[in-house]
Order: sequence, then structure tokens, then C-alpha cells
Amino acid sequence: MLAKVGSETIPLVFFDPQYRTILDKQKYGNEGKNRGKKRSSLPQMSVQVISSFLAEIDRVLIPSGHLMLWVDKFIIGTGINGLLEGRNFKVVDLITWDKQRMGMGYRTRRYSEHLVIAQKPPIRAKGVWRVHDIPDVWSEKVENGVRDHTHAKPILLQKRLIEAVTNVGDIVVDPAAGGYSVMKAALETGRHFLGCDLLG
Ligand SMILES: C[S@@+](CC[C@H](N)C(=O)[O-])C[C@H]1O[C@@H](n2cnc3c(N)ncnc32)[C@H](O)[C@@H]1O
Repeated sequence: MLAKVGSETIPLVFFDPQYRTILDKQKYGNEGKNRGKKRSSLPQMSVQVISSFLAEIDRVLIPSGHLMLWVDKFIIGTGINGLLEGRNFKVVDLITWDKQRMGMGYRTRRYSEHLVIAQKPPIRAKGVWRVHDIPDVWSEKVENGVRDHTHAKPILLQKRLIEAVTNVGDIVVDPAAGGYSVMKAALETGRHFLGCDLLG
């Protein structure tokens, strides 16, 4: 889908990869059972696949355009730069999503997810980022996007971020849309949406 989008045409891309690492590092022993069944049945993305998505996102973003990249805590712990290596983006901010729901974990139990905000040069906030009351810890209970998805992301947060860096009528992209929470957020804020998922 991204290959059909013109270079430097899109102001904002959300990308929420189906990290293989999460399954590799958090072998809870419940893959294929109950909640683990839904998670492990989703198409997984290798590092190479994620990297080719990021290359295309880099190409389609306008100068000073934003990538909102959901990452797991292992990527934060080991360094986001490995993932963004060779791309033009620079990390400009980070939001922690307090999911208000306890998840799994061998040691601590997962209660949060993380959104890295990266920008394509020229890096600037003035005149580009226009909403100034978004806290960097965001509490929101998950609600379904257009359809039920085990990794659905918070719609209110995504709406605020869309309003922060795009104008009404702009196109917001999500190339691995899952339950289409970004589509819901984009349409509810008067933006257009372009996205897809391997599952349809
Ligand atoms: C973490 S989920 C996205 C959840 C989404 N942000 C939401 O709010 O519902 C990642 C999605 O990537 C999809 N996916 C995996 N490989 C893909 C590919 N090569 N192209 C498009 N989508 C892919 C999976 O089917 C899965 O639905």
C-alpha cells in the first residue's frame, strides 16, 4: 500500500508493528491458549519487515512530518536507535500509555505501552505541533476501533495527536491498522484515512 503513495505527501503516519520480539521474550506458555491464542495467531513482523515499513514511511512523510511508533518496553530498554537506523527520523518525544488494566509479565506485570514520536527533518515544534496540553503519561481504557482487536490503541490519545500535527482534510496513514483505531480517530477529527492490514 505504501509503495503506491507519493513521496513527501503525508503529514502523519501511525505504525504499530506486530513485533515478533514480544512473543520471543515473553513466552508465557499460554500461546495458543485463551488470550495467548489471539496474540500468537496474528501475522508477526520480522525485523526486516519492520525495517522495510520504516523505509517507506520515511519516504512518504513530508518534511517535518511525524511518525507515531508504538514500541514495547524491550525496545525502549535496548535502544530505539537500532530500529530507526539508516532512516531520517529523529526521536522528539515519548508518551507512556497507562492502560488501566493489568497484563502479563514474568517479573513486573504490564500496565503500560509506549509511543515514540519521531519527526522527519527539519526538526521543529514551533508552528508544526499545535496542541500543548497532552501529558506524556496518558490514562485511557482501551475501546474497540472499527472492529475488535487484541492490540487496539487508545482512540482519544490518537485523536489529540492527530489534531496536534495535522489539519482538517489531511491524510493520516496506518499501514498495519489492526482494529482500525487510527481510522476511527482520523475520521472523528475530520481527517482522511489511508490504511490496511494483512487481515483485511
Ligand atoms: C499491533 S497490531 C495493530 C493494532 C492497531 N494499532 C489497533 O489499534 O487496532 C499489528 C497488526 O499488523 C498486522 N500485520 C502484520 N504484518 C503485516 C503486514 N505485512 N502488512 C500489514 N499488516 C500487517 C497484523 O495483522 C496486526 O493486525
